[in-house]
Amino acid sequence: MADTILVTGGAGYIGSHIVVELAQAGYAPVVLDNFANSSPAVLPRLEALAGRRVPCIEGDVRDVAALRRVFHDHAIAAVIHCAGLKAVGESGERPLAYYDVNVAGSLALAEAMGEAGVTTLVFSSSATVYGQPERLPVAEDAPVAPNSVYGRTKLVVEDFLRDLAPAGPNWRIAILRYFNPAGAHPSGTIGEAPLGRPNNLVPLLCRIAGGEFAELSIFGRDWPTPDGTGVRDYLHVQDLAEGHIAAMKYLARTPGVATFNLGVGRGFSVLEVVAAFERACGRTIPRQFAPRRAGDIACVYADPARANASFGWRAARGLDSICADAWRWQAGGGKY
Ligand code: NAD
Ligand code: UD1
Repeated sequence: MADTILVTGGAGYIGSHIVVELAQAGYAPVVLDNFANSSPAVLPRLEALAGRRVPCIEGDVRDVAALRRVFHDHAIAAVIHCAGLKAVGESGERPLAYYDVNVAGSLALAEAMGEAGVTTLVFSSSATVYGQPERLPVAEDAPVAPNSVYGRTKLVVEDFLRDLAPAGPNWRIAILRYFNPAGAHPSGTIGEAPLGRPNNLVPLLCRIAGGEFAELSIFGRDWPTPDGTGVRDYLHVQDLAEGHIAAMKYLARTPGVATFNLGVGRGFSVLEVVAAFERACGRTIPRQFAPRRAGDIACVYADPARANASFGWRAARGLDSICADAWRWQAGGGKY
């Protein structure tokens, strides 16, 4: 029988792609989500792509009783923990909410997992824990210095997971530090569906090309980068989803806790992304230069060698495919 995998936040952007990938790899995904930043309308699309029923429990990851019921009702083999709040700006305005959902939610989950004897966990962390790295590409042993409440909540969870693993012989935990996930499923039926004006570059380009917003403000033209705009490591969400399956298989043969960068290993500037997106959609993106965004950094890209050496993962898709798939999703409506 297929192993059952719980995906918290499985109705969200990244979780939904992981759910489909799990089903395609022969697992039985189960979703827990409170729809704080997603819609139940994604579920039939997930089932269509997965080719199987995907049970979804509407519940809060902070609710230990709800979690106990999930572990009681389903024979969960492992958990992929994507549920959380992720808006950097909002995290400064609502720090308690971010600590509550991201930190207390992860604690409640770990507690319920321990009780149920489910000890394999893949955690969604972020490259934001590095802040602006001193050396590039950035490897997992680089100093951490998150410059937002959001980033600090991720680091607190990472730290407690690193403390948890040695306390029990059975814990198997992979902490995955995502760089900049972008793009959509190639079917165009699931993708990123932010409410309001998106903060992140690729979903914003989708909405501008789709006519919803007039122009892109490029945050800074005087960064110490080749063309003066910010440089990031954009990672196709499908590559990211595949990374979770590979990490989970690695945990089946490796106890303890380990941290992995998931990134492509090279950076693109804002102007390069805009040019790639224009090629993908065949439209011009109106843009203007604007002041730097608070909390932004100049340049970051991953050294993804550890994930490759440990579980053979490497990003297979490039920026053009990110833009083409994001645009296909947008052209089909880009919403649930
Ligand atoms: P998302 O908001 O689309 O997905 C998160 C999901 O968690 C949503 O479906 C939301 O409804 C759910 N959720 C929120 N609070 C919950 C709660 N208390 N109980 C149950 N469910 C809850 O975000 P995403 O982009 O898919 O991100 C998934 C994870 O990856 C997050 O932990 C995020 O911090 C992390 N991450 C994302 C990025 C990125 O750029 N998208 C980068 C690095 C790390
Ligand atoms: C943002 C978060 C980061 C998080 C990451 C996840 C902030 C300050 N940081 O980072 O913590 O881990 O998302 O993907 O929000 N840009 C513009 N104009 C825009 C939007 C973006 O010029 O309207 C530029 C940014 O300055 C940056 C690049 O595009 O250089 C990418 O921005 P974004 O998609 O928001 O990602 P990050 O800045 O890496």
